[in-house]
Amino acid sequence: MSNIFPKWANKVPILLGICISVGVVLCIAFIWYYFSPKYTDVGYAPVQPVPFSHKLHAGDLGMDCRYCHNTVENAAQASIPPTETCMTCHSYVLPESAKLSPVRESFAKDTPIEWVRVHMLPDYAYFDHSIHVSAGVSCVSCHGRVDQMEVVTQNQPLSMGWCLECHRNPGPNLRPLDKVTDLGWDPKKAGYDPAKDPHRLRQVNPKVDCSTCHR
Ligand code: HEC
Ligand code: HEC
Ligand code: HEC
Ligand code: HEC
Ligand code: HEC
Repeated sequence: MSNIFPKWANKVPILLGICISVGVVLCIAFIWYYFSPKYTDVGYAPVQPVPFSHKLHAGDLGMDCRYCHNTVENAAQASIPPTETCMTCHSYVLPESAKLSPVRESFAKDTPIEWVRVHMLPDYAYFDHSIHVSAGVSCVSCHGRVDQMEVVTQNQPLSMGWCLECHRNPGPNLRPLDKVTDLGWDPKKAGYDPAKDPHRLRQVNPKVDCSTCHR
């Protein structure tokens, strides 16, 4: 009887135990990593070098997004403003503020502020702001209520499925061009119908073939 299993078989239960526990740990690590907000990216809100508040500047003070992100209508990228833009006000608004000292230092030394990127697509995906903004898609569809954020937080997954969902049915996300940066304006409440907007020269029809975004 004692010869049916070779001697090493005694170790099998131990090895099996080790394998299973390693497997469980890997499984937890996998779920933790891939389901964490860092991976899906929604909720990602890195700490910035200056506590710049969109709620204060864009919300309370009512500054238009394009005052600072002035290429958003004409270029693929929405520019991050240079320090000079801040200093047009902050050379006399709160000139002593400690929170603004990195801004003054950047201005004096002529070195850019190292803002941390929040939204980022992989290199193999092509995106262009101007196409979307000129079609009447608002910042709010992709970035949420930035005008209410103290710290910019990623609000949408920016995944391929998410892009395609709107490309297949853009209608509910369209608005008049002069309302693109008015994040609180709701096309549904206003009963907006893009087909009846005399300012629209053509109806938008986003493409869904692969080469649209992978070129
Ligand atoms: C006074 C200038 C200013 C105004 C006005 C402004 N922004 Fe910004 N925005 C910045 C600066 C500076 C950053 C980089 C720091 C940060 O992320 O907070 C930024 C970052 C962002 C980002 C994140 C960029 C990234 O790294 O992914 C988004 C999205 C954004 N702004 C959208 C908006 C929208 C929408 C509006 C209008 C409601 C707006 N901004 C108005 C200055 C401004
Ligand atoms: C159009 C004018 C204007 C521009 C441009 C502007 N700000 Fe401001 N900022 C203000 C005002 C007004 C306040 C609030 C002042 C107060 O609370 O009395 C303020 C407050 C701040 C504060 C809070 C300071 C504190 O001590 O509480 C920070 C930080 C700040 N701004 C950063 C920036 C940065 C960074 C930029 C450039 C991306 C910028 N601001 C561009 C007008 C401006
Ligand atoms: C259709 C979706 C969509 C709309 C509409 C949109 N954005 Fe973006 N935005 C993105 C994506 C996606 C990125 C990341 C781009 C990348 O990594 O190349 C981004 C990045 C940014 C950035 C970081 C700099 C850059 O260009 O990569 C800023 C600032 C920004 N958006 C501001 C705005 C503002 C302001 C508006 C409205 C006028 C707006 N966005 C409208 C999807 C959108
Ligand atoms: C909220 C709606 C919406 C979202 C989200 C969206 N798009 Fe679009 N996209 C549009 C509209 C509307 C157009 C304009 C189509 C037209 O002009 O006929 C467009 C056009 C484009 C174009 C130009 C090619 C074409 O179809 O005319 C590219 C490239 C593009 N989108 C990439 C992306 C990528 C990449 C993402 C995700 C990161 C994305 N879009 C997310 C609505 C959206
Ligand atoms: C509207 C824009 C858009 C179109 C159309 C599109 N993709 Fe993508 N695709 C993306 C974006 C954005 C990502 C990056 C997603 C991310 O970062 O999670 C992506 C990612 C991918 C990936 C990497 C794996 C993944 O899912 O993240 C593959 C593979 C891919 N796309 C293949 C395709 C194929 C094949 C087609 C045609 C059937 C296609 N895509 C059409 C925007 C698009």
